[in-house]
Amino acid sequence: MLSDIKEIINKPSLEAADLKKLLSVNSEEERSVIIEKAAQVRSHYAGNEIYLRGLIEYSNKCQKNCLYCGIRASNLNVSRFSVDFDQVLQCAEIAWKSGYGSIVLQSGERSSKEFVNQITDLLYKIKKLSNGELGITLSCGEQSRETYQQWFEAGAHRYLLRFESANQDLYYQIHPDDKLHSFSNRMIALKNLRDCGYQVGSGMMIGLPGQSVDHLVDDLLLLKQLDVDMVGMGPYIEHPDTPLFRFSHLLDSEEERFRRSILTIAVLRIFMKDINIASSTALDSLDPQGREKAIVAGANVLMPNITPVSFRENYFLYDKKPYLTEADELVERFKNSDLLRDFSFGYGVWGDSRHFSGS
Ligand code: 5AD
Ligand code: SF4
Repeated sequence: MLSDIKEIINKPSLEAADLKKLLSVNSEEERSVIIEKAAQVRSHYAGNEIYLRGLIEYSNKCQKNCLYCGIRASNLNVSRFSVDFDQVLQCAEIAWKSGYGSIVLQSGERSSKEFVNQITDLLYKIKKLSNGELGITLSCGEQSRETYQQWFEAGAHRYLLRFESANQDLYYQIHPDDKLHSFSNRMIALKNLRDCGYQVGSGMMIGLPGQSVDHLVDDLLLLKQLDVDMVGMGPYIEHPDTPLFRFSHLLDSEEERFRRSILTIAVLRIFMKDINIASSTALDSLDPQGREKAIVAGANVLMPNITPVSFRENYFLYDKKPYLTEADELVERFKNSDLLRDFSFGYGVWGDSRHFSGS
């Protein structure tokens, strides 16, 4: 009922049963009330600035075989690349000069010494070219504590590592059940990141086959328990070259997955008020104004893709990825959007989450 929902969103803190009620609403009116509350919470606790991170997809080489991901090691239809150092540095420089306070360096997961040292090298070089000004977030998977430490010392200060699902049964339905894909190792990695001093980001996919509202509630509770500073979460989008594709008949419609993703962002904002929440690229695959709508519902970080275009067609984690959207174009789209009149971009700032800076 609408009155119940209004009561819940105004509670000082939410419990599992509250989260479940909020995530289970199905009238447009109830959804709007939740989204409006999330907008107020964001404005009060996180401000009305959208922070920009230039996303560089450094390499699609990956040692893992996550069952949902288009660049999993066993997919032989992908040609593998690493962007040349010079090109990465050029992109970073453009991001810095365009006033993006930070970049995200993302890559498939590899733990070879060679890869670890490449990233270390890049970090030092990017820090140097920007006089230490450009903030750097890494998203390079599970690594040893020593590697995380080495990268932190080289200049990375945030790290994104999604847990994908907090429920272990579901986790092993979407990952092989082996040492390389262990849920407990993922938890250890998240703890190591925190211990090394990173601002830690995590998240999950929304609308996975077999995922229930209870699973999503557990995901939100795990984010809180991990005390994350940032969240990246988005809709699951099936990819034909992956094992999970054969469960596509179990999926909700794209509209429903989109609605659920937006609602989950809003509920998370009300639940963990001062964190940074990304408006993920995958939302645009389901709705042409997907990323704008996520901002309206409480997200506050946008990650325009600044990878050189020639590499992008081999970084298809999921189908229908809007890989040709240029960073400038996306920023313009946001600036001109009717939905975003009350927002401005946070230029030239790192845009750390208040959750981290205030802690
Ligand atoms: N649909 C949506 N998101 C995906 N990711 C990987 N494959 C898919 C997919 N098919 C996400 C995962 C991973 C991030 C880098 O991309 O959540 O953590
Ligand atoms: Fe590799 Fe990440 Fe894709 Fe898993 S989700 S296969 S770790 S790139």
